[in-house]
Amino acid sequence: MSADLLIVANRLPVDRVTERDGSRGWRRSPGGLVTALEPVLRANDGTWVGWPGLAEDGDDEAYEPFEDDGMKLVPIKLDASEVEEFYEGFSNGTVWPIYHDLVAKPEFHREWWDAYVRVNRRFAERAAELAAENATVWVHDYQLQLVPQMLRELRPDLLIGFYLHIPFPPAELFLQLPWRRQLLEGLLGADLVGFQLPGGAANFVRLVRQRVGHKTHKDLVYLPDGRTVKAAAFPISIDAAGFEELAAGDGVAARVKQLREALGNPRRIFLGVDRLDYTKGIYARLRAFSELLEDGRLDVEDAVFVQVAVPSRERVEQYRILRDDIERLVGRVNGDHGRIGRPAISYLHNSVPREEMAALYRAADVMVVTPYRDGMNLVAKEYVACRLDDDGALVLSEFAGAADELRQAWLINPYDINGMKSALVEAAEADPKDLSRRMRAMRKTVRQHDVRAWADAFLAELSSIAGSSHDKQ
Ligand code: UDP
Ligand code: G6P
Repeated sequence: MSADLLIVANRLPVDRVTERDGSRGWRRSPGGLVTALEPVLRANDGTWVGWPGLAEDGDDEAYEPFEDDGMKLVPIKLDASEVEEFYEGFSNGTVWPIYHDLVAKPEFHREWWDAYVRVNRRFAERAAELAAENATVWVHDYQLQLVPQMLRELRPDLLIGFYLHIPFPPAELFLQLPWRRQLLEGLLGADLVGFQLPGGAANFVRLVRQRVGHKTHKDLVYLPDGRTVKAAAFPISIDAAGFEELAAGDGVAARVKQLREALGNPRRIFLGVDRLDYTKGIYARLRAFSELLEDGRLDVEDAVFVQVAVPSRERVEQYRILRDDIERLVGRVNGDHGRIGRPAISYLHNSVPREEMAALYRAADVMVVTPYRDGMNLVAKEYVACRLDDDGALVLSEFAGAADELRQAWLINPYDINGMKSALVEAAEADPKDLSRRMRAMRKTVRQHDVRAWADAFLAELSSIAGSSHDKQ
């Protein structure tokens, strides 16, 4: 197998699962990276290299290259200590909290870093084996920041792009990392480094100038070996047409009706859909909702909050604590305010299939997205795409990347519970004309900047870099 376009990401789009009866199969992986990249891979006939998740011991088949629904997938194996030190440790216990504004406290362990280097090298070596001559390799996200440099050393002929799906932090936070220089140099192995927002790109270029000492001009970095690296923003998006089509299906319309009935036909359905992650502000939003019930500004006969919390990184302690906190709160709110057959909060700790997601988006009057920090937040865009009648309200944190584009949402500060409460009530009571004006504008934005446009823009920029460096030779 030799590929002209190789996608390298920590996770494959599918995750290995063992069912209760012992049979093994694949399930869609969680998270926005997979939602965004899957249609890109299909459209470009590429190959995807990644980890298949926590396969059981002895499940050798999980590591064989295979095709899934037209996608060519090449699994990379991590052993148990690497899952602990590379994935749960350095990636999600060190980098994730630092890159998300220190919403949780990061830990620094030298063994975690060693495992990060080791696993990044494995990904780079596999990519070097698979890529055809002069191929394009597109490396993704914070788990693999050293891969661009390692890969360039192995295969200088390749065109290498890197895209960071999460925020890139300002110097005050980034500089806490004992391995800050290695991470910057790792990323500089790429020809093009993409970020969600211009601020992330600017943070990166400034750090490279100040800490690595390379010359820079605007979004360009000049390396001593004559190479130029470009750092720019490419806000990611969704397959908007695909979501519209899904939402328009007959099955979805029937399911919307069923869902509303099952919830007791409340006047207002509030909805949250997130991986169960401390960056998402789930606890704060449920608290805001419960205070509105206590204050009498909302009534349980009238309003219900549906929260889908997708299990995530469950062996990391901060995630376990968060789950306990949220579930205790849900229990208390339902105990205090619920009625028989009518909970105040309908809570699911599970992932739901895409059709069910579309039905939930269509059923919800108010979508509540309240992260303390989020690279983009695709859920917000998916909600907008599914509002085929230009109705429904989006309450959106200013600290989600999506807030840069979805300006017509009710923008809130998730640290300000009173502000959030007012926005929830206003959004729930908004005039239909106001809702329609806002939603029309947001739908237009999401349609125009869909995931195809995002991938095309990134790959076109990457090819133009190849063209220009070729001209110079
Ligand atoms: N998602 C899903 N099933 C679920 C819940 C969420 O497929 O039960 C998807 C959702 O549709 C979205 C993605 O997971 O595409 C979450 O992406 P987002 O950017 O909002 O957050 P992330 O999880 O990447 O931090
Ligand atoms: C976010 C990250 C992805 C990650 C996903 C799911 O979207 O940007 O890189 O794959 O969350 O997290 P997980 O740890 O389950 O891969």
